[in-house]
Amino acid sequence: VERATADSAAAATEVALKGEAPPALPDYPDLVRYRADGGYRLLESCRSGTLSFETLVERLEKSGLRGLGGAGFPTGRKWRFVRQEPGPRLVAVNADESEPGTFKDRHFLLSDPHRMLEGILIAAWAMEADEAYIFLRDEYADARAILTREIAALEQAGLAGGTRIILRRGAGAYICGEESAMLESLEGKRALPRHKPPFPSQVGLFGRPTLINNVETLFWVRDIVEKGPDWFAEGGRNGSKGFRSFSVSGRVREPGVKIAPAGITARELIDEFCGGMADGKVLKGYLPGGASGGILPASMADLPLDFGTLEAHGCFIGSAAVIVLAEGDDIADVARNLMEFFEDESCGQCTPCRVGAEKTLALMAAERWDRPLLGEVARCMTDASICGLGQAAPNGLLSLFRYFPEDVR
Ligand code: NAI
Ligand code: SF4
Repeated sequence: VERATADSAAAATEVALKGEAPPALPDYPDLVRYRADGGYRLLESCRSGTLSFETLVERLEKSGLRGLGGAGFPTGRKWRFVRQEPGPRLVAVNADESEPGTFKDRHFLLSDPHRMLEGILIAAWAMEADEAYIFLRDEYADARAILTREIAALEQAGLAGGTRIILRRGAGAYICGEESAMLESLEGKRALPRHKPPFPSQVGLFGRPTLINNVETLFWVRDIVEKGPDWFAEGGRNGSKGFRSFSVSGRVREPGVKIAPAGITARELIDEFCGGMADGKVLKGYLPGGASGGILPASMADLPLDFGTLEAHGCFIGSAAVIVLAEGDDIADVARNLMEFFEDESCGQCTPCRVGAEKTLALMAAERWDRPLLGEVARCMTDASICGLGQAAPNGLLSLFRYFPEDVR
């Protein structure tokens, strides 16, 4: 309760940095530089009534902006859902980026923090919320130092208005990024995912209707409204709308965060944005959506990468963490590694996930796998787990069966 009501960024600074060596910070646009570049004018237009809620949301809808934490729920629709609920309403920002291979939110927090902070304040204005919580992955000490400093600067400059931005530290558990588990954690409880519905838009933080958005989703708000929804929508390729921030790692020459058209193919992403495959490496497959989104073979490197384009192939783009694998990489090892991660991170609340992950690993330790039984356990996890962790955990294994039979033990 005390942490939930801690009310000033100055207090947060003390808590956040007490007893720790301050991390080295990159050169980022602070409040002065961000404002010199026109920052916070959009927020002022909202607050002064120059821009209405309706116009704002229409622009978000037209741009095709979708939830970039990984689920791709249409952002404008979510803003409407929450706003139509009775107040008081709250805003919660998911900055618990934990999907293996995903590091795009960190990139935005370190390179242009005020663009997200302005997005938060606009969202709070749109929801008529007087509190906005940021749930930050605690391993991001540098992002925490930046946010602490810049939230204090916002308050001192009077730009926070009636909105308190409350920065909260995560505690290193993957499950805290699942939105309802995040709410539990923000409330000071153990991060056990809730059953949905009701969705957080109806019953969220402290029982109030809550708008939950990911860091990157809020990052794009200013540009979409100022440059126009068409600017964003036209960033896409192969029929998709907008940009995606791919966190690319693995066997490529130049890994990193690549802001590329939604709908780009993996082959195009590797060739146009990553300098091609690493020296001497030949593409064998790729994970399109971190640990959760399955594994696709090289023969499927020409599929457009976007929400809804990979599901028919048993995969999804999620948070757009593309992990590139080469000939010589053992996909069975990859699948086992992924399952070990999920077994470790399962919150243990429901049996299909808790026992299923453990049993799958035990079955995978055998010299010859009992494939029908592995399939049954996977089906049980997918169908009966409470949250996305357990439901997606078998995706890597199922991809192995489907696309890489030569690697199955
Ligand atoms: P979901 O599809 O259940 O929900 C997406 C969002 O839409 C949620 O905010 C939900 O509350 C809202 N929503 C859905 N239906 C609604 C309705 N009828 N009314 C009101 N709101 C509604 O997906 P979920 O479980 O929230 O997220 C799964 C995704 O998270 C996966 O695609 C995965 O890639 C991604 N993920 C990302 C991680 C990261 O580090 N960025 C970590 C782990 C998973
Ligand atoms: Fe917890 Fe796994 Fe069940 Fe999700 S699916 S509630 S992580 S045990």
